[in-house]
Amino acid sequence: MSTERVRLGTATVRDRARGAAIAAGGLMKVYKGGVKALDGLGFTVAPGTIFALLGPNGAGKSTTVKILTTLSRPTEGDAFVAGFDVIREADEIRRVIGVVAQRSGVDGASTAVENLQLQGRIYGLGAKTTRLRTTELLERFRLTEAAGRAARTYSGGMRRKLDIAMGLIHRPRILFLDEPTTGLDPEARADMWQEIQALSEQEELTVLLTTHYLEEADRLADRLALLDRGRLVVEGTPEELKAGLLGDSVQIELGTSELPALLSAELEQLEAVRAFSVEETQLRAQVDHGATALPVILAVLDGYRVPVISATISRPSLDDVYLQYVGHSYDHSGTTVGGPR
Ligand SMILES: Nc1ncnc2c1ncn2[C@@H]1O[C@H](COP(=O)(O)OP(=O)(O)OP(=O)(O)O)[C@@H](O)[C@H]1O
Ligand SMILES: [Mg+2]
Repeated sequence: MSTERVRLGTATVRDRARGAAIAAGGLMKVYKGGVKALDGLGFTVAPGTIFALLGPNGAGKSTTVKILTTLSRPTEGDAFVAGFDVIREADEIRRVIGVVAQRSGVDGASTAVENLQLQGRIYGLGAKTTRLRTTELLERFRLTEAAGRAARTYSGGMRRKLDIAMGLIHRPRILFLDEPTTGLDPEARADMWQEIQALSEQEELTVLLTTHYLEEADRLADRLALLDRGRLVVEGTPEELKAGLLGDSVQIELGTSELPALLSAELEQLEAVRAFSVEETQLRAQVDHGATALPVILAVLDGYRVPVISATISRPSLDDVYLQYVGHSYDHSGTTVGGPR
């Protein structure tokens, strides 16, 4: 019976793989020592799009990248990249993908030109092709000026760009970027976002990137998969995921934390308010429609002579999505930062 189930699983993943850049289903990875890094992960990536695997430390992002780039075998499950099977057609896959690992592959003692030329040789490109492609990539990533200097003198952002340029030397159709911006300062990160966006638009690349920055997935990804402990929590476009959380979020800063006893009871009765919480001087409410609910809430506060300092209405963020599905909030280090806020 279990064989049958596996076979059925393979058929569906293979069906999904047709016309897709990447298709994975039922991926399990148990490392030696028993750590279950992936627990039935599956998703599909359309050609020419940017797909983000988003999750905290240890969620299984790098493991997924390693399996899809044929560097590691799944314990169970199926995955196809460019239509090729990750287990049986690894060589075909390696020819059409570029990989930028979480740890930089740049040799600090060599210049950008030397790093790129070595990479060209590894991929078996001819000397002339490598030279032309090196010049093109150095310009593309605005590294021409620094190209003759040892890479150890580069900023973190320049080094990461060189990493990506190396991943592109053989003109792959699918590029894997494992945490392309971790450790970069905000300016370098924003710059990198532009580069990745441009790559996907100009070079018709499919990009699979991993990140633990909610904002990065939100900005860059056409679709994203939220991972938690090796499982897919939810998948969709950032907009879909946020729209899936109905309503708006209203935050009001009050001028006092001494609130009349009856205020809560009255807010609770409001039809426009689905849930609310008051902590010190912060009142937060989940409402169906912010623009309608805000005046009603302000009128109640005014009735009790509670001073208001500011009020904002916002759409749910990816953080709210994470909170809803995983049950705790998300922070960049991947640690739990307390219950619903
Ligand atoms: N080679 C290995 N041997 C044993 N356990 C491993 C190995 N590689 C990863 N793991 C474990 O598998 C789990 C998933 O690791 P993985 O590196 O895929 O997570 P990640 O999402 O990339 O995390 P990070 O954001 O920290 O890079 C973790 O518990 C990790 O400790
Ligand atoms: Mg990782």
